[in-house]
Amino acid sequence: MKNILHIISSPMGDRSHSIKLGRAIIKQLVLKHQKSKVIERNLLADNPPYLDSLHISAFFKNEKLSYSDAIIAEIKEADFIVLGAPMYNFGVHAALKAFIDQIVRFGHTISYQEDGTKIGLLKGKIVYLAITAGGNYKNSGFDPVNDYIVNYLNTILNYIGIDTIIPFIIEGTARPDFVVDYEPICSDIENAVQVN
Ligand SMILES: Cc1cc2nc3c(=O)[nH]c(=O)nc-3n(C[C@H](O)[C@H](O)[C@H](O)COP(=O)(O)O)c2cc1C
Repeated sequence: MKNILHIISSPMGDRSHSIKLGRAIIKQLVLKHQKSKVIERNLLADNPPYLDSLHISAFFKNEKLSYSDAIIAEIKEADFIVLGAPMYNFGVHAALKAFIDQIVRFGHTISYQEDGTKIGLLKGKIVYLAITAGGNYKNSGFDPVNDYIVNYLNTILNYIGIDTIIPFIIEGTARPDFVVDYEPICSDIENAVQVN
């Protein structure tokens, strides 16, 4: 049995393209791994706490931090993570940034090796990104989806040890005539190309 964690960072509920794309990805995963357990973590419902000075000193003292502890435990349990990341002002939603700030923790998701170099502790997981953007940037010479979202998420996920990251991207959702069929985008999930 596989554990699938769906992280939602769109405030748009049933009208969200990244949530629907995430669910289409999960449908493919469940077809391949029947009896998988799916957990949904909605960051807009959670309102992850921003890092403040108390969090930062607690991180260093390793005191109990309940939200951070809970989401790190959930991520450690997951085999597959479907991470919804709609574009807001050329970056990720603030709730997703706050969530990321709560999962990067020494002794929990990163550590030092004997030679002093850092190592990410979350191994053996696959992250599928469900990215959406209102604009259509392909062939425009300006690529904020890859430059600011894929690169950022790839960097931070690599930092905590996750090195298999597969992006699925929908652009142009703000067009008045926009329609999309989510399932074909991720139907060949086995052969989807990972970020290098
Ligand atoms: C406040 C706000 C800021 C946005 N900023 C951008 C942006 O910088 N670039 C872009 O292409 N689309 C932008 N969009 C459009 C969203 O990326 C688009 O609506 C996308 O479908 C959101 O994902 P969702 O459907 O899962 O909520 C913005 C939308 C809102 C409401």
